[in-house]
Amino acid sequence: MATRALDPGDVHRLADHSLTLITELQTPEGAYPASPTFSAYVGYCWLRDGAFIADAASTAGAAESATRFFDWCARTLTARAEQIDAIVRATHAGTPPSGEHMLPARFTFQGEDGTDDWWDFQLDGYGTWIWALGEHLQRHGLEADPYREAVALTVDYLLASWQRPCYDWWEEHAEHVHVSTLACIAAGFRASLDHDLISGERAARVEAELAAVRTRLLGDGVRDGHLIKWVGSTAVDASLAAAIAPLDVIDPASPLAHRTIEVLEAHLTVDGGTHRYLGDTFFGGGQWPLLSCFLGLAHDAAGDEARANELFDWAASTATSRLDMPEQVDHHLIAPGMRQEWIDRWGTAATPLLWSHAMFLRLGIQLGRIPVHRPSVISEGNA
Ligand code: BGC
Repeated sequence: MATRALDPGDVHRLADHSLTLITELQTPEGAYPASPTFSAYVGYCWLRDGAFIADAASTAGAAESATRFFDWCARTLTARAEQIDAIVRATHAGTPPSGEHMLPARFTFQGEDGTDDWWDFQLDGYGTWIWALGEHLQRHGLEADPYREAVALTVDYLLASWQRPCYDWWEEHAEHVHVSTLACIAAGFRASLDHDLISGERAARVEAELAAVRTRLLGDGVRDGHLIKWVGSTAVDASLAAAIAPLDVIDPASPLAHRTIEVLEAHLTVDGGTHRYLGDTFFGGGQWPLLSCFLGLAHDAAGDEARANELFDWAASTATSRLDMPEQVDHHLIAPGMRQEWIDRWGTAATPLLWSHAMFLRLGIQLGRIPVHRPSVISEGNA
């Protein structure tokens, strides 16, 4: 069943609301809350969500908002210089700290760890924020100096740790090396070199390790001609679309990209709604609009603009009557019996989720469905 194509007025209203939410909910510190209302996320900013939200804000013309986020990242990471140094030294000494003593996936708005337990050891966001920063600096012709120290610390952390298993985008399966995590790290390494964010001996090491990450990704990260969820798996995960676009780690014109997209469609996408992975039980394993948008970006980069538009329309159709976009919808569940258990635990699925709004903006702008220069779209909520 095809989703009805939205008329331009509806798309523009949802785009305005999306950018308003992103800029108005950004905290005075510059952090982007994952969701203002969802019980388990309130008070935290994730590096992964934040990097993609900043990328969307930057693309949508809200450059000042994106800059404030990257400034927040830089402050948060430089404040941890000692911790990073200790992790790097212990790793070189052959005693890498356990996952609980690595850097977190999410921070309070003040850049602290927070007091709630979380599945914190995730490396992807540390690559993704550098990638998004590089895109932002280039897009708006901005000065790199304020970010050099934080980028150097981040790449030192990743150089020491990238081979380690850690939690994935979904904060699961810490025992595996996740292929989309490798793609995020590769994108971050490449951005640090391409945008001259690092230099000298550090740049030479990053260049060598980038080649090693790519070798791992294209070797152990591929099975039957497509990317796989984790090294050793045969399955896919929708986060793999990001490796094709927007991260551009896998050439969109390659047979590997085409086959990966084909399997993501066949295994994980129903109508235009994309599941995270087969076997997902979180809130019953529904469809995620942000993942339909990632798949749409991959399709568009690989030359199928028509399918990208269908995925965009499906993602837009998940907005509530108040125009809030959810983390996931329950139109098609993989594990219906598990839905209520999560509602009892955490309440109904996170709505609005800023990352969903961000990916809607990012794909809509890419497809020319959302204009960038309308004054209402570029107004800055916190300016
Ligand atoms: C998702 C993460 C996301 C976090 C905040 C979790 O449920 O699995 O990918 O970063 O929510 O949005």
